[in-house]
Amino acid sequence: MREIVVFGGSAHPALTAEICAFLAVPQQPVQLERFANDCLEVQLQANCRERDVFVIQPLVNPVQEHLVELLLMADAARGASAARVTAVIPHYAYGRSDKKDKPRISIGARLVADLLVTAGVDRVLTLTLHSPQVHGFFSVPVDHLHALRELSAHFRDRDLSRAVVVAPDLGYAKSAADFARRLGVPVAAGAKERISDTEVRITAIIGEVAGRDVIVIDDEISRGTTVFELLDRLREQGARSVAVACTHGLFADNALDKLTAADVTEVVCTNSAPVPADYPKLHVLSVAPALAEAISRIHNGESVSSLFDH
Ligand code: R5P
Repeated sequence: MREIVVFGGSAHPALTAEICAFLAVPQQPVQLERFANDCLEVQLQANCRERDVFVIQPLVNPVQEHLVELLLMADAARGASAARVTAVIPHYAYGRSDKKDKPRISIGARLVADLLVTAGVDRVLTLTLHSPQVHGFFSVPVDHLHALRELSAHFRDRDLSRAVVVAPDLGYAKSAADFARRLGVPVAAGAKERISDTEVRITAIIGEVAGRDVIVIDDEISRGTTVFELLDRLREQGARSVAVACTHGLFADNALDKLTAADVTEVVCTNSAPVPADYPKLHVLSVAPALAEAISRIHNGESVSSLFDH
């Protein structure tokens, strides 16, 4: 296969630029046109013929716009005779819609996976899916990275003698345990029940947090409902301090303002989604080196999973 060609959608140009810088390849331009009837059209501005094409687009707000743009980019690349089209989706927002837990509901994670393949995507590179099984919704190869290496490196040089890692729910406990192992500290988890998109209940914390420096870890922070509920429980149970970390800092509904104003020592996330620069208490870790390394390995037919083994 011939050289790598990288296009970025409009969702996160800064991340695309950073990935291209690590790969030492130019970011190829994409022309996006919106017609009077509100339909979009994409024109890729570089030759794709027999090239190894990567299209980078996290599914962040406005998700539907960015999704259609990604589908159109994949379609354009396939139509331009790309040898292979890899969708690089650092945040797969529809991953949260992964099961039929109410009657007559859609399962967006699977539908969007099917749409991507129909559009011409041959493989997917993504980061911290909401649940690992979403990987299996795709009928094409998926390289599923996580950011625990970056997140644990951030905390490793702290005084961790009284630290404990806390997952807000049991669904994330396995990843939290991995994160805790990397830091050499114990792990605890909340018993969480989601009532609605804006309401969660954490009835108990399984594990010892009294007098501890807590590091909360989650896959994403959206409205912050989960973290605020957990902060209440941690305070009640006598935690000494709380830092909050996640992969996807989505920060809807002014969650970042509220979170940094709360009694937390710091908020740590990655740049899988665009986040404001220079925000008090906020530390943004770059996943561009990991994504660039994975892209390079995919192109060269090398192992990607070995890159992320502990
Ligand atoms: C849910 O299961 C996820 O792991 C996150 O806890 C959730 O998506 C966070 O959303 P929010 O910040 O709106 O509570």
